[in-house]
Amino acid sequence: MTAVATGRQTWTSRHLLDVDQLSRADLEATLDLAAKLRDQRTSGELGEARKRLTGHTVGLAFYEASTRTRVSFELAARELGATAVDLSVVGSSVIKGESLIDTMLTLERTGAQTVVLRHAMAGAPYLVARSTGLRVLNAGDGAHAHPTQALLDAVTLREALGGSLDGKTIAIIGDVAHSRVARSDIHALTRLGARIVVGGPPAWVAGFGAWPAVRVAPGLREALEGADAVMTLRVQLERAAGGAIGSLREYTRSWGLDEERLSWAKPGAPILHPGPTNEGIELTAELAASERSLIGRQVTNGVGARMAVLSLLAA
Ligand code: NCD
Repeated sequence: MTAVATGRQTWTSRHLLDVDQLSRADLEATLDLAAKLRDQRTSGELGEARKRLTGHTVGLAFYEASTRTRVSFELAARELGATAVDLSVVGSSVIKGESLIDTMLTLERTGAQTVVLRHAMAGAPYLVARSTGLRVLNAGDGAHAHPTQALLDAVTLREALGGSLDGKTIAIIGDVAHSRVARSDIHALTRLGARIVVGGPPAWVAGFGAWPAVRVAPGLREALEGADAVMTLRVQLERAAGGAIGSLREYTRSWGLDEERLSWAKPGAPILHPGPTNEGIELTAELAASERSLIGRQVTNGVGARMAVLSLLAA
């Protein structure tokens, strides 16, 4: 996919399946637009952007639990003038055995142009993109990808670290193996010039050292030393993550973050978490609520990032 960073503000792709489809120029233009739309929305100055998706219907199909992603996609679609319809798949014909593709074709036949899809099966959004005429926005597929989370994390980190990620070191701590957030973040942040250090129990970080610009740290202190920012991840118990560790208590003892341990990172390094947080496991409640925490800002930036994606794809 080629960048269209010349003011036209569109992507050449019809879908957003993962961030690895975006060039650095596309990524940067998207982050700029996300920040701009976020600020315009906050100050009530969206102006013409409020009509950008008039006549467009966006279906929300969340086959896995979601609060932040679903609500922010819905708000983003509405802010831009689209009709957002939540398929509430849990209460729909899906429990009567309707297949994913049949449900998506039904959505298409009702006149929707776009689907925001979250599914436990890695690759589900690719299947829907191939099998229907819908535009597909991946809102998380199994342990594979979560592109809009990577965009909102990049917006948040770029602003917190002085406007650029070039040469910055970001530590990602925890259940990296089962995390679609980590995979998409690694693609986006390294493309924007950052280096990544991953840390966690061996089974959760195995193989990541082979990724370009990614290093695996043997312990929490080594992972945090020299880090400009630290991201911690939820343990994905629904993806059988528990089998790789002795117990959650042991995990917290070795890898849980608190204010004292965060001091191993660079002075003032902020802490991020995609949410939902399990306070007391991956980080303390005090740290999550502290001045070092960007967790609230990540959520706010999520609306801007999703507005940017909807607006670029529908252009
Ligand atoms: C993440 C997800 O669902 O992948 N949540 C989110 O979208 N903010 C992370 C998680 O559930 O751990």
